[in-house]
Amino acid sequence: MKKRQICQGVHWLGAVDWNRRLFDSLIPLPDGTSYNSYLVQGSEKTALIDTVDPAKLQILQEQLSDVETLDYVVAQHAEQDHSGALPWLLDSYPQCRLVCSSKAEGLLLDHLDIDPQRISVVADGECLTLGDKTLQFHYTPWVHWPETMVTHLPEDKILFTCDFFGSHWATDSLYAGNDPRVCEAAKRYFAEIMLPFRKTIQGNLKKVRSLDFDYIAPSHGPIFDHPECILSSYEDWASEDVANKVLIPYVSMHGSTEAMVDYLVSGLNQSGINVLPFELTTTDIGKLAIELVDAATIIIGTPTVNLGPHPQVAYAVNLANILRPKLKHAAIVGSYGWGSKVVDQISGMIPNLKVEVLGAVLCKGIPRQSTFSELDALMDLVKQRHADM
Ligand code: FEO
Repeated sequence: MKKRQICQGVHWLGAVDWNRRLFDSLIPLPDGTSYNSYLVQGSEKTALIDTVDPAKLQILQEQLSDVETLDYVVAQHAEQDHSGALPWLLDSYPQCRLVCSSKAEGLLLDHLDIDPQRISVVADGECLTLGDKTLQFHYTPWVHWPETMVTHLPEDKILFTCDFFGSHWATDSLYAGNDPRVCEAAKRYFAEIMLPFRKTIQGNLKKVRSLDFDYIAPSHGPIFDHPECILSSYEDWASEDVANKVLIPYVSMHGSTEAMVDYLVSGLNQSGINVLPFELTTTDIGKLAIELVDAATIIIGTPTVNLGPHPQVAYAVNLANILRPKLKHAAIVGSYGWGSKVVDQISGMIPNLKVEVLGAVLCKGIPRQSTFSELDALMDLVKQRHADM
């Protein structure tokens, strides 16, 4: 894709990665992604904000082929999908200074082969003049590394935010408009990348709110030309508020655990609770992550495999522990053949979840009336806690 003008002197550069399906060898990308870079040409100086993933370097090279002088390249974030092209860029533009936050300096030197003499560290709130345009840098740590910052271009009312407000969504649209698919992609991104840092993000959102801008230009996904939607969504996702929602990630080997899950889904749903089962051998783990953003309760369903939880359940539980969602309540259900330690093992896997454990219902073999009675009691507890929310 060729570079595209946002306004006089400001262009989108970068690459749409239509076919990438996994990020960090971990995160599913059902809709691909993009690596956005922005060229800001003032009356005296020119700056590039972020670069692209090294796999897409050739596209950036072509887009910059008619740019003879680059005075600055701003690295808002040191992760390689944005910084990976910096070594080539600094080699190609010998006068170019690498501008970054104080914490980014060390990280960039750790991760890339860069001459430290080329780096100019900027302080929180510092301005860089390009002539008739100004770049002002604001530290926004932990979105999602410690060094992250955003860049404000007040003359054109654009806020460049790198991963902050990003979405893994490959699209030929430069702007998000009011497309609801962007919000879904941004929530997935928030769930997988930002959720563990939501308390810090609350402060960063207040800082961003104090700036005057009409556009949010992240380095993944389209530009938000109606930024209120993504701002208010982030404020909601990062808040302490939970929804009247129960998640049931589960695996069933011979149908017993599934029968228990079906019973729970039907019973809780009748009480007006939004119940979402996730069969973990087939589900997109990203969809589970999205729902973890605001669910109040998780009920983990697992058969017993050699005394412990099914490995797919262990993976999902570990993921939930890493993402630190704002869950309030948890329970475990499942069946076993001859013995089980799933309750102890799962309990030991979730130290980051500050949940009230509502109980565990395990049955030997198939669930019988006594099992369903225990499930009724568990559902009564869940309904009571949700009614009190
Ligand atoms: Fe898009 Fe944290 O890199």
